Amino acid sequence: QINSASVIVIFGATGDLAKRKLYPSIYNLYEKGHLTDDFAVVGVARRQLSNEEFRNNVKDSIYENSSKAADSKEDSFVKHFFYQPFDVTNDESYQALKSMLENLDQQFSIPGNRIFYLAMAPEFFGTIALNLEAEGLTQTDGWKRLVIEKPFGHNLPSAKKLNEEIRQVFSEDEIYRIDHYLGKEMVQNIEVIRFANALFEPLWNNRYISNIQITSSETVGVETRGGYYEKSGALRDMVQNHILQMVALLAMEPPIKLTTEDIRNEKIKVFRSLRPVIPEEVDQYFVRGQYDAGEVNDKEVQGYREESNVDPESNTETFVAGKVMIDNFRWAGVPFYIRTGKRMATKSTKIVVEFKELPMNLYFEQQEEKGPNLLVINIQPEEGMRLHLNAKKSSPTGGTTPIQLEFNNNSLTSINTPEAYERLLYDCMKGDATNFTHWDEVALSWQFIDPISIAWANNKEEDFPNYAAGSMGPRKSEKLLEKDGFKWWPIT
Ligand code: BG6
Repeated sequence: QINSASVIVIFGATGDLAKRKLYPSIYNLYEKGHLTDDFAVVGVARRQLSNEEFRNNVKDSIYENSSKAADSKEDSFVKHFFYQPFDVTNDESYQALKSMLENLDQQFSIPGNRIFYLAMAPEFFGTIALNLEAEGLTQTDGWKRLVIEKPFGHNLPSAKKLNEEIRQVFSEDEIYRIDHYLGKEMVQNIEVIRFANALFEPLWNNRYISNIQITSSETVGVETRGGYYEKSGALRDMVQNHILQMVALLAMEPPIKLTTEDIRNEKIKVFRSLRPVIPEEVDQYFVRGQYDAGEVNDKEVQGYREESNVDPESNTETFVAGKVMIDNFRWAGVPFYIRTGKRMATKSTKIVVEFKELPMNLYFEQQEEKGPNLLVINIQPEEGMRLHLNAKKSSPTGGTTPIQLEFNNNSLTSINTPEAYERLLYDCMKGDATNFTHWDEVALSWQFIDPISIAWANNKEEDFPNYAAGSMGPRKSEKLLEKDGFKWWPIT
């Protein structure tokens, strides 16, 4: 158990994220006994709701989304929940919230510890932070923390502006910028696989690795988020954050110790080593796609341009493939290929580390027989890893055959591994910011992304739509690797 004695204020309490992820995650922590009884959650949103109605909504969200529901702890759990109708631009809302927090501190013996969780439209992040301070909500005897959801700006200048606003009120170590990929079991495992085994680290460099491939594919389309996605696209939605975070974890040097500062410093060095992609060279390094109509999981689906709130001539990319180069001593010359997209053939996040060829070939007469050594890290939906090796064929005529050593995380723990949000909320209550992104990571990743998005905004892609829903993206994505003599390894 941690000292969870805190009030968590959730802005956007009636929103999708709160319902699908936050309430079920807090409940799971409670159900597993990770929370002491001295905590309260205050939901704030525009809508008028009574505490009772809010509690019922929270319960519904638990029944719908938590694997731990139906053990009758829901009633005692929701007694910790309170609701406050809120207008983020109105002083009176903050005053009312302030007295509510003071009452809850008394009622639950909480020493003034406060988490402000912004699960809502980012245009209000700055306003909220400044008003929290102006109205005295951040002047407390306990600690205060700000949890902030993506998108953190839409380019470097807007991210800087936002950061300056929130930094007027919260110090860097009080800001918890969520990247939910950092809460995933197997993303956290990258560091352990690399640094707790004698086997991989000596080979983890440009002498033995030929390339690394990261795929995060989705079968869903843009759903109801056309408005947001039109301005974002796959580059900002997935690459700037989740994908580059995985690159950093794969590429970083061993940290001095497993402290927040040491780990984040190593990641920052990776971001600093990213080879900038200048606008004139974007096509050499990055390709974009947009889905057309097609068939996904045996169902006919429409193209991106037909989706609601999407421009019928939209230039927004729903797929990105790229070659990311890390110009440092360890990785010089090793491409990190990344790809992500909506409406692809399968929902999967996987990392493939491809090792170089042997110095001499004793066994393989035909080129096709030769299987390189691959280390595959399955992030989702399966969690685990697989090592591709070659071994002797069991036959009198001899020969070789590819074999695979496999570890499946789900079968080891047999119970569901905790949800990403469950871990991240728990870390925030503990005050552990390791799996949240530091401002320098955010700034450097935007610095890398901006020239690409500027080049794409200025040059309309004439080919769009250029991949059928249910495929693995446009042909150009294959070509990106072919020209370097590589290919995407299948991810199924
Ligand atoms: C979010 C993006 O950050 O990540 C979504 O905004 C995307 O567009 C989601 O669907 C993918 O997350 P996961 O955990 O399903 O891989």
